[in-house]
Amino acid sequence: MCGIVGYIGSRPARPFLVEGLTRLEYRGYDSAGVAVLGASGTTVVKQVGRVRQLEQTLPKRMAGKLGIGHTRWATHGPATAANAHPHQGAAGRIALVHNGIIDNAAGLRAQLTESGIALSSDTDTEVLAHLIERSAADTLEDAVLDALERVTGTYALAVIDTAHPDRIVVARSGSPLILGVGSGEMLIASDLAALVRHTNQVVHLDDGELATVTAGGFATFDRSRTATERQPVEIAVAAEDLEHSGYETYLLKELHEQPAAAELVMRGRLDERFATTRLDGLRMDPRELRSFTRVKILGCGSAYYIGQFGAQLIEDLARIPADAEPASEFRYRQPIIEPSTLYVVVSQSGETADTAFAVAEIRRKGGRVVGLVNVVGSTIARAVDGGIYLHAGPEISVASTKALTNMGVAFALLAVHLGRLHDLSFADGQRILAALHRLPGQIEQILGDDGAIAAIAARLAGARSALYIGRVRGFPVAREGAQKLKEISYIHAEAYQTSELKHGPLALIDPDLPTVAVIGDDALTDRNIAAAQQVLARGGPVYAITHPGVDLAHLPVETIVVPKSEPELDPLLMIIPTQLLAYHAAVALGRDVDKPRNLAKSVTVE
Ligand code: AGP
Repeated sequence: MCGIVGYIGSRPARPFLVEGLTRLEYRGYDSAGVAVLGASGTTVVKQVGRVRQLEQTLPKRMAGKLGIGHTRWATHGPATAANAHPHQGAAGRIALVHNGIIDNAAGLRAQLTESGIALSSDTDTEVLAHLIERSAADTLEDAVLDALERVTGTYALAVIDTAHPDRIVVARSGSPLILGVGSGEMLIASDLAALVRHTNQVVHLDDGELATVTAGGFATFDRSRTATERQPVEIAVAAEDLEHSGYETYLLKELHEQPAAAELVMRGRLDERFATTRLDGLRMDPRELRSFTRVKILGCGSAYYIGQFGAQLIEDLARIPADAEPASEFRYRQPIIEPSTLYVVVSQSGETADTAFAVAEIRRKGGRVVGLVNVVGSTIARAVDGGIYLHAGPEISVASTKALTNMGVAFALLAVHLGRLHDLSFADGQRILAALHRLPGQIEQILGDDGAIAAIAARLAGARSALYIGRVRGFPVAREGAQKLKEISYIHAEAYQTSELKHGPLALIDPDLPTVAVIGDDALTDRNIAAAQQVLARGGPVYAITHPGVDLAHLPVETIVVPKSEPELDPLLMIIPTQLLAYHAAVALGRDVDKPRNLAKSVTVE
């Protein structure tokens, strides 16, 4: 979502702020701003658009050694310079940046207006700046605490004060915030991406925690002002992992990193001797794992779609009833939390607010929840009872590719594990493990031979809308395919179960509506071919994602032929061409594939 950076030390703050914001731009990119505290007070510069536009408007002389910055993804009010952060109090003493949402902002805005404050933005954040500035407390820390007493909602906050020019006070509740420990300087960021070039010593603040950050160090405390004595931890992310070196875009790089990433999520976890998987991170013994009679999977967007694949896989291999639902809907429907259900949340960022709230709901009601999460130390990773880290490495492009594939592989690891605790035979366990071993090479093969995909993508690029169809195991492929096309090319796309076509969507078919049909070599091949014929008979162009054994030669269908895996894992390979279709279509249309409009990498607000 939005990105926060902060610097205090012996060097000018501006270079770190600009570079840090550039690194965080993938989190949100409507507008950006910085506030630098120097000898003559605080200079605030805000600009609509990308960080490079902000940089062009920064004054040449901006020498302060303390500053904060923000890149915004609009929630309250449009993307304007006035709504961009930092926000200031009426006297200009306080400046702050904020990620999250202040739920009671409307009431507080009305109160502030009544008391004579002229609000200068439409945002929820601005109220915090006024509340802090109007506090009668002696210290900045107490003023921040005073203000936080009056607000409800979520926040990661960094506050500077001309009356206390030796510190930045930060606070976290429901939105990530990390301190980076340097030598004679301290850094602040909402995301490791802004820190890794400068330090490998970081402190992840917990919800309800605040910190005073000075050039010489930091002191953490809770809302009752009790010290929490946090110590820095060392992080393993390398700066090069955050570059798109050698590739035009992060998306292209991440697409091509998939074979290596898939190796990593499996490394050390395949146990051929017992035809099972080693998943110590679940932190549950076999007896406990065996006791679950249902599996409920929760994730948002693509993580939800791959969760549908995971549910099918768990039912297939472990024969435990399993289903997936959007985490964003979960807590609002008063879900029944059963002690006999294993809850599995899926998230690349580990910061998706909807998914984090689902975790909180499950835990509040005493449920057991594990996470398939990519970002180590993220909010969700720390909130769950255990889990499987995805080890996909940093994913910067807004469209999830390598993390998504690794979610699928992690589901396979989990399904084999649960299966072998139940009735999955040794031979079937071995069969799936062998298929997992082959997977990275097969992904490589698809990526290395995308000529047919690029040709079809060129045709999709000319369409206003596209239909993706698949059934049973093929349906999550269709959903994810449609999602990717929408997300990065802005072509409208809808996914349907192939079996549902004749119940409505067939009415849409005409020569201008391309259909991407998942037609695997499986028990449903003939039915899927029959559905494709129905589309063709109505003049609709059909592009099939299919397997070598499927004979479509008699039909006027262009094909993308994907290597065969075991039937349970086929969807993982069939998703790869859908990513490439979306990528090539988006490039053909000149889209910014890494930063699609209106979106942000991790959605840290509801
Ligand atoms: C994927 O391409 C999308 N950007 C989006 O649907 C994403 O998967 C979703 O927002 C969940 O994000 P998470 O995995 O970080 O929780």
